[in-house]
Amino acid sequence: MQFSKRQFLKSLAIGALLPFEAKSKSILQSFHKPNYSVPFTSNWDEIRSHYLLKKEYINLENGYYSIMAQPVLEAYLQDIQKINLEGSYYLRTVQFDDKLNTKQRLANYLGCEPEELIITRNTTESLDTVISGIDWKPGDEAVMAEQDYGSMLDMFKQQANRYGITNKKISLPIDPKTDEEIVDLYAQAITKKTRLLMVCHMVNISGQILPIKKICDMAHSKGVQVMVDGAHAVSQINFKLSDLGCDYYGSSLHKWLGCPLGAGILYVKKENIEALWPIYGEYGVSKTNIAKLNHTGTHPVATDIAINHALDYSLWIGIENKEKRLRYLQNYWIDKVSSHKNIVINTPSNKTRSCGIANVGIKGIDAIELAKILLNQYKIWTVGINTANIHGVRITPHLYTTEKELNTLVDALIEISNLTK
Ligand SMILES: Cc1ncc(COP(=O)(O)O)c(C=O)c1O
Repeated sequence: MQFSKRQFLKSLAIGALLPFEAKSKSILQSFHKPNYSVPFTSNWDEIRSHYLLKKEYINLENGYYSIMAQPVLEAYLQDIQKINLEGSYYLRTVQFDDKLNTKQRLANYLGCEPEELIITRNTTESLDTVISGIDWKPGDEAVMAEQDYGSMLDMFKQQANRYGITNKKISLPIDPKTDEEIVDLYAQAITKKTRLLMVCHMVNISGQILPIKKICDMAHSKGVQVMVDGAHAVSQINFKLSDLGCDYYGSSLHKWLGCPLGAGILYVKKENIEALWPIYGEYGVSKTNIAKLNHTGTHPVATDIAINHALDYSLWIGIENKEKRLRYLQNYWIDKVSSHKNIVINTPSNKTRSCGIANVGIKGIDAIELAKILLNQYKIWTVGINTANIHGVRITPHLYTTEKELNTLVDALIEISNLTK
């Protein structure tokens, strides 16, 4: 049989696609699925086997987005297929029950009432809903830190421009000696006009864990509400919202819970719901119902369902095990480089004040340049940070990270630091 030129090109195109499709199918099918009814035995090689990883670089930038384990990804892809099959039938029937069940599980995981929780797309949406939802009056004050996340700082700036509020910024020391040192810094910034204090549960650029309960107690004693940026704390460290006593809490579940991109939560303490203005109009819902803050229109609902798969996987490993493993990995590399000349650790030396996020600099090398050197010369993917008092690359291993990979980081840091004067 003779091929026309067009048929020949068409066959080439199909042929070129086939190996990729076949490969991606077999990748999905070849993954070992954990048996959730058998308790996890701290076998971290097994965890690694659940992840499909790029061979071209060592990913030590999991703080931005922690990729899904394959069992979570596979279940998520099935959800997408199911919703694509059922179309608006799914959206008009079980969508809302599914979301409610997911919210109930999340509330249980986080330690709050389901009536105080909504599923959002991310921390930005959650915290900006609060910042923009308060009925600010000219002269009102808000307290925050230079080390807070830029998007939230920008949102406060917007309220300052729009309503004439004043934003007061403290600067967090990298290595506080006591919790009180931190609490006092925030306390000193509070005046009679302060309405809201924003604080990170875990500072994203340094990994510092802040004493949230003590900050909340102090702020409440002065009549100030506390909004916690928990982007990195949920499913990295073991805590319950009920232990913190905060007024508002936002987090991104695509970070340490291992959900698909675009999953987050907002917690609002029951008595604070009524006074918050929603961003989008929602008049069919009572003012005391947190659902009024959740009207963002049609969105990728498979992401909501996938939270269940990520929860299954995380619960199987156990939050105590997760926290212990991440802290172990962090200490593993930090202990090997911290006393080396020219190497600066921009993370508290007290190991209970951080977990899986740390920041390291090398004297004489700009952080962005250091990140480039690590990638180009050592195939290590990180991110360079030059914000407030933090200058260095952020190192965020994942549960799948091995000691061998961290040895590569250690060797690289020492080699680079030896080249500087
Ligand atoms: C401390 C902190 N807050 C908020 C955010 C924003 O998260 P998202 O982009 O998921 O909304 C981040 C993102 O890295 C963060 O590190």
